Amino acid sequence: MESFQVTAAGPHSRPLDGTVHVGGAKNSALKLMAAALLAPGTSVIHNVPEILDVTVMGQLLTRLGCAVEITQPAGTVTIEVPEVLGWEAPYELVRRLRASIAVLGPLVARCHRASVALPGGDAIGSRGLDMHMAGLRELGAEIRVEHGQVVADVPGTLRGAALWLDFPSVGATENLLMAAVLAEGTSVLDNAAREPEIVDLCRMLVAMGARIDGVGSSTLTIEGVDRLHPVEHVTMADRIVAGTWAFAPAIAGGRITVQGGVAGHLDLVLDKLVDAGAEITTTEGGFTVEVAKRLRSFDVVTLPFPGFPTDLQPFAMALAAVSEGTAMITENVFESRFMFAQELARLGADLHTDGHHAVVRGVPMLSGAPVVAHDIRAGAALVLAGLAGQGTTTVAESQHIDRGYPHFAEVLVSIGADVRRLSSPVA
Ligand code: UD1
Repeated sequence: MESFQVTAAGPHSRPLDGTVHVGGAKNSALKLMAAALLAPGTSVIHNVPEILDVTVMGQLLTRLGCAVEITQPAGTVTIEVPEVLGWEAPYELVRRLRASIAVLGPLVARCHRASVALPGGDAIGSRGLDMHMAGLRELGAEIRVEHGQVVADVPGTLRGAALWLDFPSVGATENLLMAAVLAEGTSVLDNAAREPEIVDLCRMLVAMGARIDGVGSSTLTIEGVDRLHPVEHVTMADRIVAGTWAFAPAIAGGRITVQGGVAGHLDLVLDKLVDAGAEITTTEGGFTVEVAKRLRSFDVVTLPFPGFPTDLQPFAMALAAVSEGTAMITENVFESRFMFAQELARLGADLHTDGHHAVVRGVPMLSGAPVVAHDIRAGAALVLAGLAGQGTTTVAESQHIDRGYPHFAEVLVSIGADVRRLSSPVA
């Protein structure tokens, strides 16, 4: 088991100071890698983050018959896609990477059949696939769940259809887009997710020869084409990593320049931090966040983009725990994300949860304790909370953090934090 040890003397006791660099977005790069399956030939994706999930996605594409080369720290992934693809994504790989469900749409489109393992539950919610499956059915696929696999067959061809999502699911939008681009005729996808990662995927698909109208809106019109061609594409910057770095000085105190962070992807988040008392300036190629004193609490309601991102909710809760006043935090996207609240309470946060609402009363300082990271964002937020605590906080299961943040501990050290990695031998 791996853990991070954080030592601090409370907020603003050792202000963070320095520049951090934001690389490519995990949630984009993994889908762009899946999208490469749509065109035989060699696609190259740049600005891919140096994280384990990318390696696992590479292994999955290899299993499907591709030749994959990942060059780090350059951040380049070269994917040679064969004319005839494999169509089975086995549980042993899918369980290590939920995002591997993104190969379902491309496999249905290219092979007219697919068998992709159900990812199973995880620490932040049940994450159903009903909308993915209903949409693919509308496009003409026969889909069933069998022996833990989602099995799809397309009798004849995929046909464009009117598609409507009950909720703007990121994953369902991506899978349906990637199937519809090779369907016969026109599809209209209503109530589509509008996250910048979807825009990034659309940009790559359009460069591959797809015809998509309404990119960035909640109605996507996709005119299917017979064939796509391979491309070279640069992954967008990671807005969740950039947002994390915006919260770091807010929670611990200090001044951080977030180089490569796109302030425009974080409008709502940065506005809230400014209203709470942070000073934020946008600079050439990034932004700077400076926090010299305790911030005022603010309420948060998570919603699909352009709402407050659910992935930044744990940071907002950690900040509320040490802000002045009371905050109401409402989680609308992932029902179990409040497991994090229990860990934060172990650090002395004064909070109460009821369903998907949490009331957090700020205290001047947290107190170091051993805690557990249940997912990527919760793990990073606990480390930052530890910086606002007095004493030592040990965040166990820190391998989750490494899945989303390349070199997180090392970057924190470079901006003045006392954070170290502890590894204990596997029992
Ligand atoms: C992606 C991101 C994740 C982010 C989330 C919302 C990746 C790898 N992950 O996850 O970091 O927090 O978007 O911005 O990109 N749902 C259903 N049925 C479905 C599909 C979804 O009930 O068919 C539910 C989920 O259980 C969840 C909600 O809808 O409660 C949102 O899920 P979704 O937008 O699909 O998130 P992911 O694509 O899994």
